[in-house]
Amino acid sequence: RPVADLAGRHVVISAGGTREPLDPVRFLGNRSSGKQGYALARTAVARGARVTLVAANSELADPAGADVVRVGTAVQLREAVLKAAADADAVVMAAAVADFRPAHYATGKIKKRDGQEPDPIALVRNPDILAELSADRPHPGQIVVGFAAETDDVLANGRAKLARKGCDLLVVNEVGERKTFGSEENEAVILATDGAETIIPHGPKEDLADTVWDLVATRLA
Ligand code: C5P
Repeated sequence: RPVADLAGRHVVISAGGTREPLDPVRFLGNRSSGKQGYALARTAVARGARVTLVAANSELADPAGADVVRVGTAVQLREAVLKAAADADAVVMAAAVADFRPAHYATGKIKKRDGQEPDPIALVRNPDILAELSADRPHPGQIVVGFAAETDDVLANGRAKLARKGCDLLVVNEVGERKTFGSEENEAVILATDGAETIIPHGPKEDLADTVWDLVATRLA
């Protein structure tokens, strides 16, 4: 795509999935591969943007031309995204952020004890980075985009989540039968605060990424 419609723009993308440690060797995590976020980074570079990719535990190679910041936990991802977002024109939260983290971190490996049941794992809430970014924008023209995976009532749940998070665009995936995590392909509907719905048929994650940037570029213009 030769159109440099994001030239002169700084965009921040989060990708991958956070890992919340229990002890030095164990964590609570998720199956996000980072592929959709990396596709967003590649396509934004191709369209002329300066790109900061905040990557949580992805095994993918750094996309050429992007500044990559590697993080592990949701708290680290929040720090990195908020710092990069200060001068960003758009922020896209494609990362799967853990809603909860263990309340306690054991500095030594947790051991099983003979004849004793395991202790329950107490959890505390992680910050909602997307909601925070949307509420406290460093400048009013900044565009904030979220992702949501829904299993049922995709449009109604998506609309409610768009309003709750306060972002400008929400990319809603239907998950379930045909898996999205780890796949090369995706299908989605992008909901906008003005009521618009953009349907993205099943296809490469690059196509979805380019449609996100089309909508972002229109709103920045
Ligand atoms: O609430 P839910 O996890 O479904 O929302 C998904 C969207 O919110 C994604 O864009 C994800 O990156 C973001 N999120 C976040 N902080 C959290 C949980 C999710 O920014 N603690």
